[in-house]
Amino acid sequence: MIALDNIDKTYYHGTSSKRFLKSINLKIKPGEIFGIIGPSGAGKSTLLRLINRLEQESSGSITVDGQKLATLNPHDLAKLRTKIGMIFQHFNLLESKTVQENVALALRIAKTPSSKIAPKVQSLLKMVALWHKRADYPHSLSGGQQQRVAIARALATDPKILLCDEATSALDPQTSESILALLKKIQQELGLTIVLISHQMQVIKSICDRVGVIEEGQLLEVAPILDLITAPKSSAAKALSAATMHINRLPHDALKPKNSSISSTYIRCVFQGDAVNEPILSRVCDRHKVRFNILEAHIETIAQTTLGVSICQLIGHDQQIKDTISNLKKNLSAIEVLDYV
Ligand SMILES: Nc1ncnc2c1ncn2[C@@H]1O[C@H](COP(=O)(O)OP(=O)(O)O)[C@@H](O)[C@H]1O
Ligand SMILES: [Mg+2]
Repeated sequence: MIALDNIDKTYYHGTSSKRFLKSINLKIKPGEIFGIIGPSGAGKSTLLRLINRLEQESSGSITVDGQKLATLNPHDLAKLRTKIGMIFQHFNLLESKTVQENVALALRIAKTPSSKIAPKVQSLLKMVALWHKRADYPHSLSGGQQQRVAIARALATDPKILLCDEATSALDPQTSESILALLKKIQQELGLTIVLISHQMQVIKSICDRVGVIEEGQLLEVAPILDLITAPKSSAAKALSAATMHINRLPHDALKPKNSSISSTYIRCVFQGDAVNEPILSRVCDRHKVRFNILEAHIETIAQTTLGVSICQLIGHDQQIKDTISNLKKNLSAIEVLDYV
C-alpha cells in the first residue's frame, strides 16, 4: 500500500545541511496498523508527511496505492490526497466553526455534491459518537471529543489510509485508550491502512500490528509488535521492550548467594500464550534440583497474546544450572542469561 524506497531527507540551511532521514526502506501492507516509534526529533513526523507529500524526499522514491508520488501531476496528487486522511496531536480543528461545519468543510474542499454533505456529516459524526455535539464549538469539547471530530473530518473523503501523528499524545491515558479503540474499530470496519506514529510504547502496543523503530533518522528495526517485545534486535528496541514490560536492569547489589560453593545465575524468561498458565519454571528447576528466586515479573496481553516476562535468579551447582537453562530453552519463547548482575 505504501512503499518507501531508499528515502533520504536533507534540510539545507545556507551552506550547511543535515540528513534527517537516512536510507529508509519500508513497506506498509494494505489493512495493517503500522506503528512508528522513536524519541522526539527522530524524524517520525517528517516520514509521515512524506507519505501525503506535505514534504518531498531529497532522494529515493515513495509509492502510495500503486502510484509513484514524484511522478504525479497536481491534479492526480490532489486526487490521491483525498485517499489519505490525517490526524494530529493538537486536533487542528477550526475554532470558529461548529463540529458539523468542521466535518462539512472537508467534504466541500473535496468537492462533494452539496446534497450529499449533510447525510455524510451525520454518518461520520454518528460513527465517532458525537452526533449530539454537532452544533457545539471545539472549545466546548474535551480533548478526546475534539480528536473524535478530527477523526470524522479525516474520514470525510473515505480515505484508504489514515496517518496519525502523535494523535493521542495530548490526551490522558484513559482517553488515549478510547481513541485508540475507536481507531481500531474504524480500521476493521472500513479496512483502512493506518500509519500511527508515537513516542509512547503504550500507544504502539495497544493497536499496532507491526512497528518500525526510528532513531536519528534511521529505521533500525521493523517487526510484528509481539516479536519486537519478545525478541528485540536493536538496542533501541531492547530498551523499549524492557521499559514497556517494566523489566529493568537490576540493581548491582541484587541478591547473591552467601554460600560460595553454590552458583547463582540471572535469567530473563519470556512466557507466551499457554506457557503463562503452566508452572514451567518450578517444574524444570525441580527436575534439576535448582532453586529459583523471582526478582521481577510482568504479564499483559499484547496483540491478543498473553505475554509474561520475568527476571529470575537460579541457585544451584554449575552443571545443574546449565541443564536447567537448556531445558527452559525448549519450553519458553525466549530465555536470556543476564550478565550484568
Ligand atoms: N523544515 C525543517 N527545516 C529544518 N529542520 C527540520 C524541518 N522540519 C523538521 N526538522 C528537523 O528534523 C528533525 C526531525 O523532526 P521530526 O520529523 O518532527 O521528528 P519527530 O516527529 O520524530 O519528533 C528534527 O530535528 C527537526 O528539528
Ligand atoms: Mg513529530
